[in-house]
Amino acid sequence: MKRPTDKKTLSKLSGALLLVGAGKMGSAMLDGWLARGLNPKKLAVIEPQPHKSIKALARRGAALNAKPGPKAKADAEAIVIAVKPQTAPDAVPPLGLYVGKSTLVLSIMAGRTIGFIEKALPSGTAIVRAMPNTPAAIGRGITVAVANAKVTARQRKLATDLLSAIGKVEWVKDEALIDAVTALSGSGPAYVFLLAEAMTKAGIAAGLPADLASRLARETVAGAGELLHRSTLDAATLRQNVTSPGGTTAAALEVLMGPDGFDELLTKAIAAATKRSRHLAG
Ligand SMILES: NC(=O)c1ccc[n+]([C@@H]2O[C@H](COP(=O)([O-])OP(=O)(O)OC[C@H]3O[C@@H](n4cnc5c(N)ncnc54)[C@H](OP(=O)(O)O)[C@@H]3O)[C@@H](O)[C@H]2O)c1
Repeated sequence: MKRPTDKKTLSKLSGALLLVGAGKMGSAMLDGWLARGLNPKKLAVIEPQPHKSIKALARRGAALNAKPGPKAKADAEAIVIAVKPQTAPDAVPPLGLYVGKSTLVLSIMAGRTIGFIEKALPSGTAIVRAMPNTPAAIGRGITVAVANAKVTARQRKLATDLLSAIGKVEWVKDEALIDAVTALSGSGPAYVFLLAEAMTKAGIAAGLPADLASRLARETVAGAGELLHRSTLDAATLRQNVTSPGGTTAAALEVLMGPDGFDELLTKAIAAATKRSRHLAG
């Protein structure tokens, strides 16, 4: 998997980096950190069912499921929490043993607020809550982060370096925005996959063989996404550039942009996801 390996931003960590939960997202981050120069000897992982790649890292000096030693607090420069939100009440409080004066805690748990993490850890802990999305698995995610008042400029830079390993990073000041972020970019990849599914079905309905319709939809979504990624133009301009007046694209867009079209549907969908996120966060 291609990773940005040019910036060795993590080669000079002064303390240890503790990853709690090396599942899909934790492992994606870990791959990115190693590509950015993280020395496995600076890494500790807590993971009940470590993948063989994690066991291999342990052979290169990473601490795997090690009990906290007397130096644990002084050592932990950052703790990254990547367990499922439902595991948090059991998994987070014991991490207090690793939290020292200059430790940054970075959580990517969906729906677990800064307030929840503050209550579970020693008072005054510097905490960043972040919401990544699944393209993180190929280093092409986008993460939105928010910090509590204890996070220093240095820790914020560290959080940016840790999160940049899986894609782009944006910061917001207001934690309440994380619900809408979850609804847009967190859940967003599923909307794009649904678009490919719906285009496939529509292609079949228009007379194409199913396998051809599937390939056309898949490559069109992926290719248009890559074009958008590489272009300096915004999405609306790219759309206008491929729409001739009175042409075939215009005929489809009249339907998609008409009453109850894409805009209305996505506004309703994202509002529903925002509401659900707010409800789940309690
Ligand atoms: N995947 C995404 O696209 C995405 C997007 C945004 C945010 N997130 C957030 O990222 C977090 C991780 O998601 P994921 O998809 O990577 O989940 P996952 O694949 O299930 O990974 C979580 C890992 O944590 C391990 N674990 C369970 N209890 C633990 C404990 N007490 N201490 C240490 N590790 C423990 C799990 O092991 P077992 O399997 O043995 O329980 C599992 O390997 C979630 O909070 C999720 O909300 C994910």
